[in-house]
Amino acid sequence: MECFYPCYRKIDLFIPIFTPAINDPLWMSPLNEIRNPVVHEMREFEKHFRDAMKSDITLLNLITNYLLRIKGKQVRPLFVFLTAGLAGGITPSTYNAASLIELLHTASLIHDDVVDESFERRGFFSINALWKSKVSVLLGDYLLARGLLLSVENKEHELLGLVSDAVREMSEGELLQMQKSRKLNITIEEYFEIIRKKTATLFAACTACGAWSSSQDPDLTEKMRKFGENVGMAFQIKDDLFDYQKKGIIGKPTGNDIKEKKFTLPLIHALENSTESERRHIIRTIKKQNNNSKKVQEVIEFATSNNGIEFSTEKMFEYRDSALKILAELPENEYNNSLSRLVNYVVERKK
Ligand code: IPE
Ligand code: IPE
Ligand code: MG
Ligand code: MG
Repeated sequence: MECFYPCYRKIDLFIPIFTPAINDPLWMSPLNEIRNPVVHEMREFEKHFRDAMKSDITLLNLITNYLLRIKGKQVRPLFVFLTAGLAGGITPSTYNAASLIELLHTASLIHDDVVDESFERRGFFSINALWKSKVSVLLGDYLLARGLLLSVENKEHELLGLVSDAVREMSEGELLQMQKSRKLNITIEEYFEIIRKKTATLFAACTACGAWSSSQDPDLTEKMRKFGENVGMAFQIKDDLFDYQKKGIIGKPTGNDIKEKKFTLPLIHALENSTESERRHIIRTIKKQNNNSKKVQEVIEFATSNNGIEFSTEKMFEYRDSALKILAELPENEYNNSLSRLVNYVVERKK
């Protein structure tokens, strides 16, 4: 990453100037087409989202403006709108659900970068790189509170219930991951439990809230919740696979999971299929030399040459297929079509 501010660690308050690279047509184009049936709603959502972050505090506005400029892929709101379309039509509640979820997602990323000590996000400096941990923790809390307030003010009690449950699970997932990384022992089942909690539940909340906002049908909401959960599992496996690739266009560091002693599917599978002495050697390397990038590369090569990437990709495809199976049981229309393309995008995306 190019450093625009050589002395940025010394500056607490400033307006970052940068050239947005985020609209790179290479990765925007598949989403552009997928967005088609809800393109106007997604534009309207952006205003909703911006308003939901506004504050009277200058520092907060400074940082939220930065956040709005380095916005992410916004796949979660896209899932909310497309699911609502499929379940009967977009309503004012759909906008509340999409804003609530993107606020919580943004908060969780800001906190995650503090926990993971990661200084790069969406191709730019992370909030903790620019404003340090104290501001990041408080900002994450602020966004979470704004999300909860938005639902209370609009009397969205059902949505609030669905999403609060996801927030609880996300925190549990992050803590479980930390517990496991301290002990350096994790099974495949535990890995799936972690990613279900930390990522898949929020995707499940997207599609459940989308369905509820338009149909208020408990059976359909449950079906779509399951759909979102499968998508979320595939999404996190893909994200974990990114960590094993060379630093490229993903917009966040690679090799970070091993540095953080985080065992993800490629490594877990490779360890389960190696000899006891190989296993001990790799675990010792992660324990003692996790900050040595040559050694991290050695662990990456171990996972790769022991089938870790192929195995994880297969598992990711299984979750994709379970998600597509649910869609196949629902009426065929432009929303359904875009949803199935979005599921494929999740497993094929480049960032
Ligand atoms: C990143 O999510 C966090 C994970 C669950 C892996 P995204 O990849 O959707 O993040 P943005 O919002 O597009 O940056
Ligand atoms: C995903 O965790 C973030 C949350 C679910 C809060 P990771 O640490 O794996 O995600 P990235 O790779 O930093 O986006
Ligand atoms: Mg993390
Ligand atoms: Mg992280």
